[in-house]
Amino acid sequence: MLVCPVCRTRLKENRFGYACKKGHRFDIAAQGYVNLLGAKHSGSGDDPAMVKARTEFLSLDSYRPLAEKVADIMKSLLDGAENPLVLDCGCGEGYYTNIYAAALPFAEIFGMDISRAAVKHAASRAKALGLANVRYAAASSFELPFSDRSADIIISTFAPVAGEEFARVLKKGGKLVIVCPAPEHLMGLRAVLYDEPYLNKPNDYGLKGFAAFGSERLEYTLSLKTNRDIMNLFAMTPYYYRTPREGRERLERLESLDTGCGFDILTFRKK
Ligand SMILES: C[S@@+](CC[C@H](N)C(=O)[O-])C[C@H]1O[C@@H](n2cnc3c(N)ncnc32)[C@H](O)[C@@H]1O
Ligand SMILES: [Zn+2]
Repeated sequence: MLVCPVCRTRLKENRFGYACKKGHRFDIAAQGYVNLLGAKHSGSGDDPAMVKARTEFLSLDSYRPLAEKVADIMKSLLDGAENPLVLDCGCGEGYYTNIYAAALPFAEIFGMDISRAAVKHAASRAKALGLANVRYAAASSFELPFSDRSADIIISTFAPVAGEEFARVLKKGGKLVIVCPAPEHLMGLRAVLYDEPYLNKPNDYGLKGFAAFGSERLEYTLSLKTNRDIMNLFAMTPYYYRTPREGRERLERLESLDTGCGFDILTFRKK
């Protein structure tokens, strides 16, 4: 159940958007998303330029195999659930979220991100695709506008993992799906940027109240054919902020790049 980010009472839908019984009102913007950012949130997430770079890169469908694999995993996790609620936390511009909505028409999908630019894009794309089972809100993963034990699945893809808040909002037995880079992810890109490229270290999410449930790895080769695609991919990565000038210049001169990509899809069950 959706709750008011101000007073935490139930939010009911009306023709403008949502309102609680205490009179707090959250209208749906023309682009189709609602702002449910609570008072405690800090930061603003990805800015419009980063959203644009990621949108352009994702529109190549280079990461579609990942989205389809995750949708299949969620389908099997939801087997038999009635009107399940799936929260995509840190959904960005909704590339994956909209694919999940199309693949899981029996589920209600809610995409949230603290970047308004991102959810604005996500919602207008969902409208253009005619997806009726997906909604978007500006909201922080650390302060979700949902009541306790209301979600069947929470998914976090390359986004902050708010373990305590996810445990609060998931139903008992609900699943947390974390998608993160595998050790060799984008090694071909890193080999251009750095003299001594390193492997990604596995993350310790320090999850309390969850039991590890499953782990799958997806690996394949990306063949990028233009410098713009290469630079858009670069702008989506953490290396964008910590690459020495010479490394960036080497990348700026490339017209094509083959690089492996690898993703770990980790599943946890809420105890
Ligand atoms: C690397 S992007 C991944 C976006 C999307 N899941 C994807 O894979 O395309 C990380 C996203 O997390 C969002 N973000 C950062 N802090 C957040 C928070 N506290 N709550 C929700 N989203 C957050 C950013 O705005 C950004 O869109
Ligand atoms: Zn309220």
